[in-house]
Amino acid sequence: MDLRQNPLRSESAVRKRAQPCALVAFGATGDLMKRKLMPAIYSLAAEGMLPAGFSLIGVSRSEWSDDDFRNAMREAADRDSRRRPVDDTVWRSLAEGMRYLSADFTDVSSEERLRPLLEQSDAVRHTEGNRLFYLAVPPKAFRPIVENLQKEDLVNADDGDAHWSRVVIEKPFGRDLDSAIALNAEISRLLGERQIYRIDHYLGKETVQNILVLRFGNRLFEPLWNQRYVDRVEITIAETLGMEGRGAFYDETGILRDIITNHGLQLLAMIAMEPPISLGADAIRDEKLKLLRSIRLISSDQVDRYAVRGQYGSGFIGAAAVPGYADEPGVTAPSSTDVYAALELYVDNWRWAGVPFFIRAGKRLPKRVTEIAIHFKGVPLNLFEGTPAPPSPNVLSLRIQPNEGVTMLVDAKLPGAVMQMQPVRMDFDYSSAFGADPPDAYERLLHDVMVGDQTLFTRGDEVEAEWRVVTPILQKWASSPASGFPNYEAGSWGPADADALPAHVGAHWRRL
Ligand code: BG6
Repeated sequence: MDLRQNPLRSESAVRKRAQPCALVAFGATGDLMKRKLMPAIYSLAAEGMLPAGFSLIGVSRSEWSDDDFRNAMREAADRDSRRRPVDDTVWRSLAEGMRYLSADFTDVSSEERLRPLLEQSDAVRHTEGNRLFYLAVPPKAFRPIVENLQKEDLVNADDGDAHWSRVVIEKPFGRDLDSAIALNAEISRLLGERQIYRIDHYLGKETVQNILVLRFGNRLFEPLWNQRYVDRVEITIAETLGMEGRGAFYDETGILRDIITNHGLQLLAMIAMEPPISLGADAIRDEKLKLLRSIRLISSDQVDRYAVRGQYGSGFIGAAAVPGYADEPGVTAPSSTDVYAALELYVDNWRWAGVPFFIRAGKRLPKRVTEIAIHFKGVPLNLFEGTPAPPSPNVLSLRIQPNEGVTMLVDAKLPGAVMQMQPVRMDFDYSSAFGADPPDAYERLLHDVMVGDQTLFTRGDEVEAEWRVVTPILQKWASSPASGFPNYEAGSWGPADADALPAHVGAHWRRL
């Protein structure tokens, strides 16, 4: 038998054609719909990536007409779409298939009114009975909506490619381990795992997928990708944004739940997992799951040693004065909510034994930047003893956003008669290498749902493994409200306490 012919490996990365469908967006008047989903839907249409039969049905409580919905969506596409200016011909054909249903979507009678719209969409827009339900709603509405869709028989059986129904669920999926287990159990009673698309939009980012190519499309890195050569890994998810009107949501959520539990741990899993046996959805998710399950749990009495939380006070972002978190609309002051968090984690497996993984995420930091830095160990013996400085350890940094790319810091000799070294950058920059802007994560992910590819969506067991890591920290923080908040100024790099984490291993956070 030719081992290269392993059928599991033939699950390939080749893009399939999106199948005709009606996309039903719950929460259609909300922020996510306007900022992310509609701009992504329009860009897909402009790129010719939407299926020939397509319609968009917005559902929300607001009393809007079809035209109100179309106008708001047009504004959203005009403002945030990657493909601007909006082309009138493309827009017209998209807008013809848009309908709006004003309804309380947790109330079963509303779902009855959805059926005629779906039937009409099948008849007029040729959507062939395929349904993509997008739950862009608060977590407490997930279960009632899915239950009502089931009661009204609007969700087709999980019969693969003919007449499918798929449900996209936004994060946070639960509030902690127990609630995530309960939600998984409830949703799985109603839907097959093949129908559930738990979205983590970081996985749709081009540069996150590039981690797979960098690691497994090149021979160079993999031999070095382990505790023998890697000193530590550092993941930063920094935002300049504050609450942007989401204060009430944030005050209940915090950044550990909002960003680290999903985006942060998914980045860690992608960077540290073992090579999958194929690019099939479950092959990759099996490896991520194994990795997430290998993360050492932090016991309650160790939380203060391995986790730091923060909250910003007033300050400046660039030249603009901004209020402190406690003064943001929707926040109940004084608040103990974390809007900065930093963790030191360990992956207890052979590959990573003893290597610290530092993750930090924060709001109102000086720069918007997401990057993963692999710090390699220093050389085993310094041959350059007489030089002013020893060789600096190599750093490979993957810039997830913005200025997407990869940089390697290597030592080079400074020109001149004296032996002197200086780290120089070997740089790969997406925009100069490939020209075009990478597609937005939501474009990629919506298209994946339409083709039935779950690779970039989080499986139920992965979500539970993520919550298992953070729940002890959440519990400790909930039981001991933070003292000394605010502990960093808006526009600074976070609380001074966070420096203690890398300092334990004689390091410091990268200056970005
Ligand atoms: C979302 C979080 O998942 O990601 C937001 O809820 C955060 O709080 C956003 O601002 C960041 O996404 P991006 O793609 O801008 O890095």
